[in-house]
Amino acid sequence: MGDRSTAIISTGRALPTSKVTNRDLEEIVETNDEWITGRTGISERRMITNDETNSKLSVKAAHTALNRAGLEPKDVDMLIVTTVTPDTPLPSTACLVQAELGAYNASAFDLAAGCTGFLYGMNIADQFIKNEAAETVLLVGVDTLSPIVDWQDRNTCVLFGDGAGAVVLKAAGENQGILASKMFSDGKKAELLHVPGGGSRTPATYRTIDERLHYIKMNGSEVFKFAVKIMVESTLQVLEHCNKKPEDLDFLIPHQANVRIIKSASKKLGLPEDRVLINIQRYGNMSSASIPVLLDETLEEGKIQRGNLIGLVSFGAGLTWGAVVLKW
Ligand code: ACO
Repeated sequence: MGDRSTAIISTGRALPTSKVTNRDLEEIVETNDEWITGRTGISERRMITNDETNSKLSVKAAHTALNRAGLEPKDVDMLIVTTVTPDTPLPSTACLVQAELGAYNASAFDLAAGCTGFLYGMNIADQFIKNEAAETVLLVGVDTLSPIVDWQDRNTCVLFGDGAGAVVLKAAGENQGILASKMFSDGKKAELLHVPGGGSRTPATYRTIDERLHYIKMNGSEVFKFAVKIMVESTLQVLEHCNKKPEDLDFLIPHQANVRIIKSASKKLGLPEDRVLINIQRYGNMSSASIPVLLDETLEEGKIQRGNLIGLVSFGAGLTWGAVVLKW
């Protein structure tokens, strides 16, 4: 123990086939392409249809990641699914994914930390692997927000999309893989982004449905200000933890919630635009899936080279936030 670190050895992603463009949304709520593109950077997003589900997207992304790692499902000894939109409240999506994959040697559980879920999952996987309590962790960041978005609320319905990204994590030598990782939360800000109905406090009734309490409610401008501040602060904190500076980063992979949040935070960090990765225009905010999907696409494009220093940073409902620095 002590000199063991944790590395991502492979990635995969799965996206619903159905695309919803800004023009499509113009038919549903009073909005327009110029507003959405200008204020958020989003042009289109994916949405589950027919038999697509959270667990099915997870299984697809996980299969790709396992195949690329040359591993069998039975090799996984911990399976974490980070999501706020499980197929059902009980059991966890992770158990459904375990059964579908046949990953029977794994402990399986869901982790809910809003859009920061994937980075919370990385932190937990890192602790288990570093401490030799796990060898192979399969981590899936997945969210299917379209069923809990209020399609009558233009403040929120234009922002989100559905998707899944998966990574396989294993032990690596010293000074490789995850160099620093931090998780934060502030429950006093819970009501800035929440779904008030449908849980055990306010179970589903005709009244809760009439009052649309099962949908996401958000104070967008407060979340925006908070996001810019903590994206900068938490990136600096993890960098400091491993004696690095923003200019040492080859790439920053930020949570994809709003292109203006990303640009403002990157500017404050002094990062040139070409080092800050963005795919929000095609997918919107996929919550837990945003970072792993973007990582997978960037690897496929061949942009990331061995030895690159990469920062990951996210924020979300809770409020929660977190950041990771890793050496590829
Ligand atoms: N189309 C047209 N007009 C709109 C739309 C829309 N889709 N949505 C809002 N507007 C209007 C508002 O009604 C408002 O009009 P008014 O001035 O007449 O009242 C006007 O546009 C400006 O609204 P603002 O809220 O001030 O716009 P802002 O520039 O703040 O952008 C946005 C709103 C995009 C929501 C922004 O605040 C944001 O991105 N916030 C962060 C949200 C976020 O990141 N959430 C995800 C967190 S992660 C997770 O865990 C899921």
